[in-house]
Amino acid sequence: MTVSRLRVGVIGYGYWGPNLVRNFQELEDAEVVSVCDIRRERREHFEKQYPGLTISEDWQELVRSPAVDAVVVATPVSTHYQIAREALQQGKDVFVEKPLALGADKAGALIELSQRRQRTLMVGHTFLYHGAVRKIRELMDQGELGEPLYLDSTRANLGILQDDINVIWDLAPHDLSIMDFLLRRPPLSVSATGASHTGRGLEDVAFITLHFPDHVIAHVNVNWLSPVKIRRLLVGGTDKMVVFDDNEPSEKVKVYDRGVACSDSPDKRHNELIQYRAGDIFVPQLDLTEALLNEARDFVASIREGRQPLANAESGLRIVKLLELACLSLSRDGAPVEVN
Ligand SMILES: NC(=O)c1ccc[n+]([C@@H]2O[C@H](COP(=O)([O-])OP(=O)(O)OC[C@H]3O[C@@H](n4cnc5c(N)ncnc54)[C@H](O)[C@@H]3O)[C@@H](O)[C@H]2O)c1
Repeated sequence: MTVSRLRVGVIGYGYWGPNLVRNFQELEDAEVVSVCDIRRERREHFEKQYPGLTISEDWQELVRSPAVDAVVVATPVSTHYQIAREALQQGKDVFVEKPLALGADKAGALIELSQRRQRTLMVGHTFLYHGAVRKIRELMDQGELGEPLYLDSTRANLGILQDDINVIWDLAPHDLSIMDFLLRRPPLSVSATGASHTGRGLEDVAFITLHFPDHVIAHVNVNWLSPVKIRRLLVGGTDKMVVFDDNEPSEKVKVYDRGVACSDSPDKRHNELIQYRAGDIFVPQLDLTEALLNEARDFVASIREGRQPLANAESGLRIVKLLELACLSLSRDGAPVEVN
């Protein structure tokens, strides 16, 4: 039996939209039938790349079109809620780029609407579909790292400065969703500091600290003003430590058999109390499929199979809550805020 292809409409063809269109077009059981952007130059760009496909400037027309089954939202974050809500109301399955919405109340309302309309609602937590992150979770699940001790994530480069959100809302959804996926539990508290240097009142450099149960600590450094691009995550465990460097063309993940062990014998001198272990470095094989392709595939499969996607809307809501709490702490000069 041949299954009809899911007809996808993509709203927003700026920086990220083209990647979504390209990956949805690669799927066998889906096709992009319609694209929309309010900017003329982006529509012209699209027409050159995809002659024969339609692009409009009216997103409302797209979400109401009976020729569209599912809607992908790749517009600025401040527009996510309105567009996703209307698409759900029109009975479409919806994929919203990260973060799900600009506020937990809005994210919660979208989830409630998707449940009422029995539609799939997914969020673009792309790194959950990245071979490196999948491998780290596999290693953690197998107990290879021992007990987790800390995570430390840096996401820095020059720009692209957004004009509706600060750097936390723009970049930290990646790091926080990776941590949520790896640790499978929420933090106890969040604190954040940051600063705005462009006179717009939107922080362009920020540092977030999260405390998890069992003394696990995590740090997220997000920066729009870095002269170099850094995409690096450290995961420390009692047995092994991992470095994920996304700038590495290959060997993105390295597992270090390194660590320290402390003796609790009180009568030994300091240098005998701490033992350093420096063992081998292991470079695991990774699934090199483009994360976005895995993500697009999961969206379509979750609709067809009537199941939740991996990057489900509940995970979107958890991350939006953390972003809100981080910004609350930011407004209180970094005072820790408890996570309920
Ligand atoms: N998953 C990832 O790795 C990743 C990476 C980059 C961006 N993103 C997300 O993708 C989304 C878009 O980011 P971007 O960097 O492409 O921004 P962008 O500003 O480059 O592109 C957004 C586009 O949406 C268009 N637009 C705005 N309002 C519209 C409307 N009402 N109707 C139709 N078109 C409209 C704009 O003209 C623009 O071309 C954001 O949510 C961002 O967080 C995700």
